[in-house]
Amino acid sequence: MKYQLAFLFLILFGAAYAQQKNKDFTPGTLWPDDKGVHINAHGGGLLYKGGIYYWFGEHKIAGGAGNRAMVGVHCYSSKDLYNWKDEGIALSVSEDPANDIAKGCILERPKVVYNAKTKKYVMWFHLELLGQGYKAARAGVATSNKVTGPYTFVKSYRPNAGFQPYYPPGTDKAEILDCAQPKNKSEGFFCRDVPGGQMARDMNVFIDDDGKAYHIFSAEENFTLDVAEMTDDYTGHTGKFSRVYAGHQTEAPAIFKRNGIYYMIGSGTTGWAPNPARWFTAKSIYGPWTYHGNPCVGKGAEITFGGQSTYVLPVTGKKNAFIFIADKWTPKDAIDGRYLWLPITFKGDDIEISWVDKWNLDVFNK
Ligand code: DGJ
Repeated sequence: MKYQLAFLFLILFGAAYAQQKNKDFTPGTLWPDDKGVHINAHGGGLLYKGGIYYWFGEHKIAGGAGNRAMVGVHCYSSKDLYNWKDEGIALSVSEDPANDIAKGCILERPKVVYNAKTKKYVMWFHLELLGQGYKAARAGVATSNKVTGPYTFVKSYRPNAGFQPYYPPGTDKAEILDCAQPKNKSEGFFCRDVPGGQMARDMNVFIDDDGKAYHIFSAEENFTLDVAEMTDDYTGHTGKFSRVYAGHQTEAPAIFKRNGIYYMIGSGTTGWAPNPARWFTAKSIYGPWTYHGNPCVGKGAEITFGGQSTYVLPVTGKKNAFIFIADKWTPKDAIDGRYLWLPITFKGDDIEISWVDKWNLDVFNK
């Protein structure tokens, strides 16, 4: 009887806890899903479809092993951005060690977009083959007919093999490279990788107003960000791409557009440890991009409040409402990684990101 009562209490308590509604964002704290379990979607990205937000991210397990992909990509759904329903594993790693996405590989920063022509959901991610550390530097793609999956792995490769960069009007002459005479480290890496394709590590996918998709990724040993045009079905690259901020190592690109201006927020390259963020703007997606330094202000700004950018979410139905989304990595116990969601403040066309302990979408009504 005693045990039955205790069991009943646990069930009732569990259900009450699970139904508790979040009404605010509290960056850096545990964020329970509908089952009361901390959301497991790191390095994530969001997709808004049919009045619902979907959050896709790396499912991490406990301990250091969680820095490798032992499970796959986790999906959650939400109508209000505060409360998230567990939709399960959207893309599973393979039990076959010879598969590109074999269990134990590194599969990071998944981003899902919807292709209206093919009616397919397309998931891109940074893939490192099993047992090769960060050497492979490939882009991987999977597709599904259903937003929550299951997604089927299609292929992984290094993009734009055989292609030279596109130089948008206004490009500084010094940026134009010649593989007969590479001028610096990044150009050397670029030229080395022309035959096999450019390295593709930290990444994002951006859909422009005209429906064209662009893949933005750290290339050339992270010394450059490539902004690469994708094919109409979003499952490949066309060979047209520009190089952004060449010669400076940048990771974690997150891109958005406001009033016709493209914004990119990124980070330095210090592994799992936080560093100062950086932001750029451009009038054309290919650039030239202008570097603006660190968008973060106040205490903790010099380490992006302990986080690293992963996505910027435009809030549907609200003007000037963009959420900066970052990961606070915990590599010793990967599953405990936290999420920093912070509102972006605009001063004219300039942006600022400040720490807030607790906030909600009402800040965008002001
Ligand atoms: C920083 C990257 O942004 C992460 O996605 C991950 O690749 C770590 N480096 C690994 O050290």
